Amino acid sequence: MMAVYQRHSNHPVKSRKDSIMPARPILRIGHPCLLQVALPVAEFNTPELDALVTDMLDTMAAADGAGLAAPQIGVLQRVVIFGFENNPRYPERDSVELTILINPEIQPLGNEIESDWEGCLSVPDMRGRVPRHQRIIYRGFDPQGQSVEREVDGFHARVVQHEVDHLDGILYPQRIEDMTKFGFEKELFEDDSEETLEVEDSR
Ligand code: NI
Repeated sequence: MMAVYQRHSNHPVKSRKDSIMPARPILRIGHPCLLQVALPVAEFNTPELDALVTDMLDTMAAADGAGLAAPQIGVLQRVVIFGFENNPRYPERDSVELTILINPEIQPLGNEIESDWEGCLSVPDMRGRVPRHQRIIYRGFDPQGQSVEREVDGFHARVVQHEVDHLDGILYPQRIEDMTKFGFEKELFEDDSEETLEVEDSR
């Protein structure tokens, strides 16, 4: 059984792309579910797991997100998804193939810590500058139970650390060291002097 915190809503929501997709509501900061530690997935290749992953993919797409963790839709299971295309506005940022990662583990490589801007679908309209390991190995499983292992750095590494934090009940504002680098995106960047690197918003 999935640890479902909130009942599945069948109400389709309208995405910013003006298409109707069967997305689930995304919980926002302040909701107690976002502070819970999620449970490992015990069984792979099940209809329940496939349904959860499908809901997460639909929800992330409808929100134009680059990543999503199951607790953000009220499911306390250790499942994250992420992926984004190369964005011509940020040519320095490589695309990341769409990945479904279950029971993930992160191993930092080296001591380099990098601070950069993050956003989160559960913390709408805000951005904060968050220190993360620059290079990591991550390991986990796909929905069929096949093992996944990748060595990554930069934005890819940042996104995975952000999403795995969700599984431990940690939201990025808890990681911010300089609270003067936290605020509403519009106010922080209204002069366009600094481009943002959003973790979960693709804009
Ligand atoms: Ni997030």
